[in-house]
Amino acid sequence: MPDLNAAQTSPAADRNKGPILATLQALLPARGRLLELAAGTGQHAVHCAAGLPGWQWLPTDPSPDALASVRAWAQLHPAPGLLPALQLDVLQQPWPLPEAGRFDAIFCANMLHIAPWACCNALMQGAAAWLAPGGQLITYGPYFVEGEPAAPGNTAFDADLQARNPAWGIRWLHAVQAEAAAAGLQWVQRLALPANNQILVFRR
Ligand SMILES: C[S@@+](CC[C@H](N)C(=O)[O-])C[C@H]1O[C@@H](n2cnc3c(N)ncnc32)[C@H](O)[C@@H]1O
Repeated sequence: MPDLNAAQTSPAADRNKGPILATLQALLPARGRLLELAAGTGQHAVHCAAGLPGWQWLPTDPSPDALASVRAWAQLHPAPGLLPALQLDVLQQPWPLPEAGRFDAIFCANMLHIAPWACCNALMQGAAAWLAPGGQLITYGPYFVEGEPAAPGNTAFDADLQARNPAWGIRWLHAVQAEAAAAGLQWVQRLALPANNQILVFRR
């Protein structure tokens, strides 16, 4: 029985879960299996699993506190397609996923800028290994884009991240695309979301 007191709340996740779900509903087919990386509190997992009734949603995170939070949220807001959360660090290759078969989508929100750059390579290699042919890798977060002025909020956020940890920072779109291409993933599109965030879509 999960400890319901372990449920953490992120105000940002509360704000962005609606636009994220609406985007996923537009991008994804009616049914499939989705692997969520860096699930954090679990707010995205319970909200999106409820809003994508044809999908099985597997939330993962390396942090025991995050996993406890995801499990508590899942207990508080059960959704039929929401699978029990698993521990997964993208740097641990190959990803220790027990299930046979591949995923039709992989979703990863707000990890790339709050993790060392090596996690981008690991994300792409793992996604290439675990996505079914035609499956989509969908990332959400802030990105810098060559040739486009950075939003002032993102410049300040990037400086704050690097002050907290020099290995962190908002990533450049072209660098993320290069890691994806090196892993054999195809670039599809990027979509603007509120508060200077973007969704990036790649396809295996
Ligand atoms: C800012 S939180 C984002 C949580 C959630 N996706 C959201 O948008 O609210 C960053 C998450 O990345 C996870 N994370 C950090 N390093 C990771 C890694 N190497 N592999 C997978 N997840 C990682 C952390 O445990 C944390 O839950």
